[in-house]
This record gives sequence, structure tokens and C-alpha cells, in this order.
Amino acid sequence: MSVVIKEVVDAKKWYEEGMNKLDPSIYKEYLNFLYDLKSFSIQDHPFIDEMSKAISYTPFSPEKVLFIKQSMDAGESVKRLEIDITDVCNFKCPGCTFQFSQMDKQLPYDKLELFIDELKQAGYRAITLAGGGEPSIYNYNGKRLPDVTEKFQENGIDTFLITNAFALDNEDDIKRLLLSTKGIRVSYYNFIAPGEPEDKNDTVFKNIKKMIKLKEILGIDTAILVGNLISWNNKADYKFTIQLAKDFQTIITPRPFISIKRNAKEAINGDTLKMVLDRVLENYLNIKEDINPINSPVAIREYLERVLAFHLPLVKRCTVTELGLVGKVRANGDLYRCGQLSARSYELEEKDLNKKNTFYTNIYEKGNLNGHVKGIKGLTSYNMCPVCRETINNIRINKFNSIPAYLKEPIMKEVMSSYSGNRNLAYFW
Ligand SMILES: C[S@@+](CC[C@H](N)C(=O)[O-])C[C@H]1O[C@@H](n2cnc3c(N)ncnc32)[C@H](O)[C@@H]1O
Ligand code: SF4
Repeated sequence: MSVVIKEVVDAKKWYEEGMNKLDPSIYKEYLNFLYDLKSFSIQDHPFIDEMSKAISYTPFSPEKVLFIKQSMDAGESVKRLEIDITDVCNFKCPGCTFQFSQMDKQLPYDKLELFIDELKQAGYRAITLAGGGEPSIYNYNGKRLPDVTEKFQENGIDTFLITNAFALDNEDDIKRLLLSTKGIRVSYYNFIAPGEPEDKNDTVFKNIKKMIKLKEILGIDTAILVGNLISWNNKADYKFTIQLAKDFQTIITPRPFISIKRNAKEAINGDTLKMVLDRVLENYLNIKEDINPINSPVAIREYLERVLAFHLPLVKRCTVTELGLVGKVRANGDLYRCGQLSARSYELEEKDLNKKNTFYTNIYEKGNLNGHVKGIKGLTSYNMCPVCRETINNIRINKFNSIPAYLKEPIMKEVMSSYSGNRNLAYFW
């Protein structure tokens, strides 16, 4: 192993401070500006009050994008790619964003090595390993996930890993991953889908515990987070979130459970919108008192905002892809302009008969990387995007400059002090 154990930067867990210590009244006004809540007559809905008070313990709260933007304006390279090293998955989650694409594709390790050189030349500093598949079961001629993360580290590229952790039971592998990544987010689901291993949840539970223990033994500041899926109207999911927070005492990042059948363009308004907010609020209030930084840190604000954004009729304009900030490499080598493969423009599609080349390319076509990731104007997104974190990021990128200085200043002060060093978590946002 070529890595050295990092020094512990903070004796105190960084999230004990509570990220974004923003005054709720300022946050509420800020939300009003961002979402123009008055036009939906929800500016005084108690949901907005609670959301403004909810502390975000997440290192990738939506405010982080303001830090990223600031760094970018200062000339720093903040580009990030999501890479699906494998399409193979050991789970069958209903509604998996990639529909548990049980394909057999794996990114060849030797191709990955060449691609890392290209990434370095193109100024990439960070990648996220996710799926379309489960990265921990990657195996290409004996090269496995820790070989991949160590390779990125050797080349000075930070890695953030998203995994279901079912196969992560080997201590040596876990150590190598902890030492070669900036952060690991484990997806822990409150169900066993047809065809999945019976012992799924027990195994994942044990593996997360092992990971947390090893992190403590090694004395490193690599972040371990647990992400779970919550349906906006299911009380049991909220309770499960609190239980996870108590069991692991590591940040839990609840995410809205999306139905891939829902047409997100049909945003809701009026009484239906109020009904959704009422229901989410009722469920949230059930767990609110249990959320605290030390024993049960739940990154709830981002969750509440995603539910809000999902139901509002927002313009589906993806500034993140326009700026070329994030892209996705699929296991077969296809290179997309956005993480959800959603960024397309119907207008451009109509004009351009060669649709494939307009919207995605392939890493096997040499020299395409720079051109592909430099960003393109006029991309719109469909269906999945309103729950995707880019929606709430785009709102900030588009609107922040136009909000009044008395709001901007206190927000930027907190943002700049919150996101530095490891808190960047490989620029994952
Ligand atoms: C597709 S997975 C890939 C990595 C890995 N296999 C995992 O599950 O963590 C990436 C993320 O998508 C999320 N996801 C899957 N299905 C979803 C759904 N229906 N709604 C919202 N998020 C979903 C998962 O929670 C996971 O964090
Ligand atoms: S574990 Fe991840 S990739 Fe696999 S089916 Fe579930 S969400 Fe999809």
C-alpha cells in the first residue's frame, strides 16, 4: 500500500458544529428569494419555517455550490466526474435510478489508467465512484475497487465513493478504501426487494459498523455517511432514518425516494402542493426532536428542500452542465454531460439529426474529453432532474447574484468557513 495515514485534523467531529450555522430568519428570506415562494402562496407555510430552522449536518448541503462557484470564479478547477466502474449490481432496488441495469459491463482497468492521465491533463481534481452498478464488486482481471481508488489517489485526484457496502466485509479492503478516499457514503435501504439476499440489511449493518470502527482505529478523517431513501408520505421511513442515526452516529443523508414512473414535468401547485408540504411536515415533526449533532445527526434540510423543489414547477435548466462542472462516465465508456444522463435539449435534438454525438461521446474516442466537458448552453433536463441535487444547486447558481447584499453577506460568511479542507469531500456536492 502506497498511502500514509493522514493526521486527524479535528479532534471534534466536524459535524458537531452543525454545518451552515445560518440564522433561520435569514435562511427563510433567502429561500423566498431563491424559489419565489410568494408566487406559489407558500411563503408562510410552516414547512418553510421548519426547513429554515433545520440544521444541515451535511458536507454537501446545497450551499456548498456557492463555495464551488466562488472557487471557480477565482480560477480554480473544480470539475468533477461521476464514474460507474461497473454496471453489475448485487441488489435489485425498486426504482434504482439506473434500473439496476444488470448488464455485465466493467470499465477495463488499463483503459481507466489511460483515462486518469487524460483527466489530469484536463485539470480534474475529483471524481465520484457510483453506479449504475455497485463499485465494490468491480473486478477486472483481478483489479478491484481499492486498486482503483489508490490509483486515483496516486495521481492526485480525490475520490468520493457511493456504495451499498454489502460486499465490503474484508478489513484490509475497507482500510485501503478509507485511506485512499475522501469520503464514503453507504446506501442503506429499509427493504429487501425480490431476488435480494435475505441477510442484506444485517450484512450492511455489520459492514458499516466495521468501517466506522476501522476509521477510529486508523484515526483518519475520511468521512463516512449513510444515505437512505425516504418516501415523502411514509412515517416509517422517517423513523428508520432516526434509528440509523442513533445506531451509527454518523451523518445520515435522507433522500427523496423517486418513482421512475412519475412525470416530474407535471409539477403541482395550489392545494395539492400544500397537502404534500403538510404531510412531509407532519412526518418530519415526528423525528425532529430526536435529531441532534452528536447522537443522531440527520442532514434533513437538503431532504426537505429536495421535496419542495421536486413539486414546484421549476424551469428545467441545468447550469451545472452549462458550466461543464459535472459529467458521468458509464461502465461501457459512454461519457455524458450530467450525472443522471438527463441533460438534453429538445430544441437541439430537433435540429441535429446526429443526436448521439451531440449529447454524449465515449472515452474510447481519444481527445474528446476536453471538448465534451467544457459545457454547453441550452441544455434542459427531463424527468429525474427535479430530485437530482443539481436542481437545488442550479437554483443557487442562477439566483444568488440577484439576492440582496444583506442576505448574501451572512450566507457567504458561513459558506466560506464551512467548506474547506476535507469538508470538500472530493468536491462532491
Ligand atoms: C444508483 S446508486 C449507485 C451506487 C451503489 N450501488 C448504491 O446504491 O449506493 C446511486 C444512488 O442512487 C440512489 N437511488 C437509487 N434508487 C433511487 C430512487 N428510486 N430514488 C432516489 N434515489 C435513488 C441510491 O440511494 C444511491 O445512493
Ligand atoms: S444497489 Fe445501487 S445500483 Fe444497485 S440496484 Fe440499488 S441503487 Fe441501483
